[in-house]
Amino acid sequence: MIDQQTIERIQDAAQIVDVVSDFVTLRRRGVNFVGLCPFHDDRTPSFYVSPAKNICKCFSCGEGGSSVHFIMKHEQLAYHEALKFLAKKYNIEVVEKELTSEEKQAQSDRDSMFILNEFARDYFVKTLHQNPEGKAIGLSYFKERGFRDDIIKKFQLGYSLEQRDAFSTEAQKAGYKREFLLKTGLSFGDDDSRPLMDRFRGRVIFPVHTLSGKVVAFGGRILKKADNMAKYVNSPESEIYSKSKELYGIFFSKNAIVKADKCFLVEGYTDVLSMHQAGVENVVASSGTALTYGQIRMIHRFSENITVLYDGDAAGIKAALRGIDLLLEDGMNVRVVLLPEGEDPDSFARKQNAEQFNRFIDEHEQDFIRFKTNLLLGEAGDDPIKRAELISNIVQSISLIPDNIKRSVYIQDTATLLNSREDVIIAAVNKIRIKNYEKKKEQREKEEAREAIVETQSHSDDTITVTNKKLLTARNPYEKAERELIRYIIRYGTLPVFVRYEKEKQIKESEEVEVEVAIEEGPSVIEVIKFDLLRDKFIFSDEVFFSNSLYRAIFEEACEKLSDESFVCDRYFLTHHDPKISKLATDLVSDKYQLSKIHAKSIGESEDEKSSRLRERNFLDKLVIRATTELKNAHIMQMIKELNKKLESANSEEESELMIQFMRLQDLKKALAKELGERIILKY
Ligand code: CTP
Ligand code: MN
Repeated sequence: MIDQQTIERIQDAAQIVDVVSDFVTLRRRGVNFVGLCPFHDDRTPSFYVSPAKNICKCFSCGEGGSSVHFIMKHEQLAYHEALKFLAKKYNIEVVEKELTSEEKQAQSDRDSMFILNEFARDYFVKTLHQNPEGKAIGLSYFKERGFRDDIIKKFQLGYSLEQRDAFSTEAQKAGYKREFLLKTGLSFGDDDSRPLMDRFRGRVIFPVHTLSGKVVAFGGRILKKADNMAKYVNSPESEIYSKSKELYGIFFSKNAIVKADKCFLVEGYTDVLSMHQAGVENVVASSGTALTYGQIRMIHRFSENITVLYDGDAAGIKAALRGIDLLLEDGMNVRVVLLPEGEDPDSFARKQNAEQFNRFIDEHEQDFIRFKTNLLLGEAGDDPIKRAELISNIVQSISLIPDNIKRSVYIQDTATLLNSREDVIIAAVNKIRIKNYEKKKEQREKEEAREAIVETQSHSDDTITVTNKKLLTARNPYEKAERELIRYIIRYGTLPVFVRYEKEKQIKESEEVEVEVAIEEGPSVIEVIKFDLLRDKFIFSDEVFFSNSLYRAIFEEACEKLSDESFVCDRYFLTHHDPKISKLATDLVSDKYQLSKIHAKSIGESEDEKSSRLRERNFLDKLVIRATTELKNAHIMQMIKELNKKLESANSEEESELMIQFMRLQDLKKALAKELGERIILKY
C-alpha cells in the first residue's frame, strides 16, 4: 500500500505531457496536445493531452485518464505498480506499508516473470563479461564480429554457459520459483521430479526490450555452424511476451525515430546493433518475420515515415514486398532501399559511418509503389496477361492508402509508369475501395450485434464500463441523474452552493471605493445533496440513493470526509487509491460540459470550457437541486411503471389498492414537476 500523500506527490510530479511523450509523439494544438492514440487503431490524431487538467483522453475510443491510468493501461500494470513506475521516473521515494500475505499473493504472475527476466538478463551479462567461458567464447565472438564494448553494454548482450543447467540452478538458488522459470521459457522441464534445463545453453544472448525498457524475452544465437540446430532460439510466447507485439530495438531507438521523423526497418538483431554502432539509431527489427499490425502501430506513434532495408538478393526483394500493404493501409509513407548485392544492413553498416550510410539511403531510397511497379514491370515484359495482373496488383496496393491526395498522386504516377489511362486506374481503385468498405461495414455490424448480445446478457447496474451507451441508459433509468450528481460531488463537493456578496464602501488610499464582500455562504454541495435526498428518502427503497455501487461508495465517502478540514473533493477523488474511482473522477472532470452549444461555436473550445464552468459555479445551487429532483423523478417514474405492470395482471381487489398507490405516485410526480419548474428557472 502506498499512502495517499505519496500518491498525490506522484500525481503532481507526473506531468501528463511528459509521461505520454515517452510513448506517443505529441503535437501542440491550442492549449492541448494531440497524437495518435496508442490504445486503438487511430489514423488521425484523436488522443488529447491536457496539461492544464493533467489528464489525457482519446475522443475516439474513450481511453485515458491521469498519468497513472495511462501507465496502467499502456504498460499493463496494476495501479500500485503504475504508481511505482512513475515514482521511479520522478525520483520519488515510495514508503510502502508491509504487505499482507494476501496482497503478496496477489502480486501478479506478470510481475514475477518480469523480475525473473531481469535477473536472467543480469546473469547472462555477468557471465559474458566475468566468467572465463563467457569471455573466451561469448565475448570473443562479439568482438570477432566487430561489436564495440559500448554497443555490447547498451543492448545488454550476454552469454549462457554450455553446462545444461547452469542458469536454472543459479536462479533457483537465488530463490526463483520453478513455475516462473518454466513460464518465461528460460528453462525446460517436463517432469516435476527432474531438474530444470536451460533453454539458451551455449548461446550468446540478445534481450528483447519493450517500449519502456522491460525485458520480455531473449534471443540466443549459436556460435558454431551446426546443421541440426537452429541459428536462433527465442523465448516462447508467454503471459508477458507476444512476439507479434514487440519490435527489437524500439526502446533504444524511439527518440532517434522521433528526431529523424523516420524509422528504418531491418530483419535481424545484428542489423540493429551494427546500425547503432555506425551511428544510425532510428532502426528496429521485425526479427525475421513479416510485420504485424501491432508493430506497425507502434512505429506509427513515433513517425509516419518508414524505410525498409533489405538484402539485395531475390529473397530480400520478395521479403520487402510482404507485409508492406499493411503499412500503406495504416497511412505510412513507405520507402524501400535495396542494398548492394550480397550485403545485409549489418555488413553494410560496418563499412560506413552515419553520414555515408545516410547518403547512400538518400540516393537509393525508392517510393514503395514505384519500386513495386518497376519490379513487376521488369518481370512482366510485354506479356499482356502478366501486365494485367501487374496492374491489378498495384491497384490493390494503392487502394489501401487512406489519404485521398496521396492516393491520387500515386494513381497519376502509376498511369505514367504503366503507360495506361488514369481514369481506368481511378475506376479500378474505387471499385476495390468500395468492396473493402462494404466488407468492413459488414464486419463492424456483426461486431456490434455481438456486443449488444453480450451487453444484455451481462445485465448489471454496476458495470459502468460498457461500450454501448444507448443500451446502458435504456437499462438503468437512474444512471443519468446519478452520474450528474456524482459529477457535482467530484467537481465541487466541498464548495458552497452559493456565495452572496454585498457592495460595501471602503476607504482605499484615502479614496472611497465600492468593493464586493461575501456576506453569506451556503452549505457545501455535498451537504445540499445529502439533505435534499434525505428529505424524500421514502422514494428510495432502503434509503439507497445510488443504484450504482461505485457512485454509492463515492457519495458515502464524500459525506464521511466532509468533517475533515483538509478535504478537497476533486483532488481527493482524482488521486483516490481505488483506480475505478480515480478513473471515473478523471472522466467526469474532463467531460466537456454541454451548457451551450451556440456559445461554444462563437468563442471556441477552451474559452467555452472556462465560461461553462463559471456558469456552472454561479448556478450551483439550482443545478444541484435540479439533479437531485431528477433522480427522485426517475425513481417515481420507475415506480409508476412497475405499478402499471402489476395492474395489468391484478384482480379487482388488488386493483383498487394499486390504484390508490397509483394516485399517490401521480401526485408526487406532479409535485416534483412543479418543483423542477419552479426552482429551475434557467433556460439554456
Ligand atoms: N531468426 C529467428 N530464428 C531463426 C533465424 C532467424 O528468430 N532460426 C530471426 C532473428 O531475430 C534474426 C532474424 O530472424 O535476427 C534475421 O535472421 P538472419 O538474417 O538469419 O540472422 P541475423 O540477424 O543476420 O544474424 P547473424 O548476422 O548473426 O547471422
Ligand atoms: Mn546477418
